[in-house]
Amino acid sequence: MAKRDTSFICQSCGAVYARWQGKCEACGGWNTIAEEVAVAASVPATQRASRKGRAVALETLKGESPAAPRLVCGIGELDRVAGGGFVPGSILLIGGDPGIGKSTLLVQASAALAGRGHRVVYVSGEEAVEQVRLRAQRLGLAEAEVGLAAETNAENILATLGTGAKVAMVVIDSIQTLWSDSADSAPGTVTQVRTCAQLLVRYAKQTGACVILVGHVTKDGQIAGPRVVEHMVDAVFSFEGDGGHQFRILRAQKNRFGPTDEIGVFEMTGSGLSEVPNPSELFLSNRDTGAPGTAVFAGMEGTRPVLMEIQALVAPSSLGTPRRAVVGWDPARLSMVLAVLDARCGVRLGGHDVYLNVAGGLRINEPAADLAVAAALVSSLTGAPLPADDVYFGEASLTGAVRQVSQAPARLKEAAKLGFARAVIPQGGTEGAEAAIGVSAVGSLAELVAGIAARAPKRPPQDRAPPGREPPRALEAAREPAGADDPLR
Ligand code: TYD
Ligand code: MG
Repeated sequence: MAKRDTSFICQSCGAVYARWQGKCEACGGWNTIAEEVAVAASVPATQRASRKGRAVALETLKGESPAAPRLVCGIGELDRVAGGGFVPGSILLIGGDPGIGKSTLLVQASAALAGRGHRVVYVSGEEAVEQVRLRAQRLGLAEAEVGLAAETNAENILATLGTGAKVAMVVIDSIQTLWSDSADSAPGTVTQVRTCAQLLVRYAKQTGACVILVGHVTKDGQIAGPRVVEHMVDAVFSFEGDGGHQFRILRAQKNRFGPTDEIGVFEMTGSGLSEVPNPSELFLSNRDTGAPGTAVFAGMEGTRPVLMEIQALVAPSSLGTPRRAVVGWDPARLSMVLAVLDARCGVRLGGHDVYLNVAGGLRINEPAADLAVAAALVSSLTGAPLPADDVYFGEASLTGAVRQVSQAPARLKEAAKLGFARAVIPQGGTEGAEAAIGVSAVGSLAELVAGIAARAPKRPPQDRAPPGREPPRALEAAREPAGADDPLR
């Protein structure tokens, strides 16, 4: 009988310890170490016969390799994020919050691929066959030729896959529910997850099937289980969105066969996820154009320009430390923009609460949004709505200068396509796109502030100035030089 051995393993990074401790030294996680019983190898490593290695032939880098053929499922947004379809023999991991629609997306992808004549197997470890069937019926996909099983044992799954015709794609929903006979700890532990993932990686490489794993995420959005699984797979996608909004974003975090900054946009409808081929239109719908504090940002998501609305609310604070609340952007980046506005443009927001929101629940990671954020903040402070047909992009530097950002022509073209008349952007870098849209270049945030302040009503609205407090003097000053030589006009 195999010797039983207890070890303490960090459930987040897989580091092994001899005894329990509160903090994992390897990844810094607190309370992530759990006891696991492992079956030791029947022959100790020292007693195993040493085998002479076999020499392998070395190749050159310039040798001919056929382009990887792709399994195209026909759901355009999914195929694009995967890099133009799934690669046979690859394994990918999709993470996301519970209820975001991972199972729905994968049932739809399975049915679409089966509809193109491929053999697809969907293994659910979380739901019974009836539940998956019910969902397929709701999606109108009950007729699809998808092999369905509710199973959690990795060896049974591999045995099932070994029978019958060649499998093109296998969906495992989810990796945390699997367990293997070769590891002795409970399902969901790092050892089990790693062992099962290893078995499936081997299966994918040996048979050329594409394996898709669903992964749970922890409270802070990380894919649960060992980080090593993320290293073992060929691609890691996250499926994001929030409960209050109907659209979902599939984002590639790692992809050995495609770009990593590509996003796929879906909308959750009564009959499953539908593709959103033009996200800008979706994110800009229901825009309140006459209100101060909103600016349209021309952003890039991968290779695709996406326009989105940035909303700011600046209100006098009754607290000693004013509130800074951000949804959809980096709070540290907001602090930086506020500091630059204060130090370089005299816009003092130290006594104001600042709320910033990216409309529609989108998350922006680009510094190119600085200019749009600054415009929205100043517009909210002054009560002057920005022109409804303006878009903004540009990165603010700590000196107050506005810097160029990548792919300006693509951003300008998208804005022109959606009917925007003027782009307020950094100087230079717009070759070839000026004809499509009017361009107003700003060299510094101070120029931007002066331009917006010049549009502001002479007396700030009542609700803006707290009783007994003067409107910010800096803005009065900023308003002066504006006029004939207004940089924004
Ligand atoms: P699901 O795919 O089960 O999420 P996950 O696998 O990521 O946990 O999605 C469940 C949610 O999606 C559920 O709250 C209901 C909603 N939904 C729809 O709105 N329309 C549909 O057609 C389907 C199938 C689900
Ligand atoms: Mg699910």
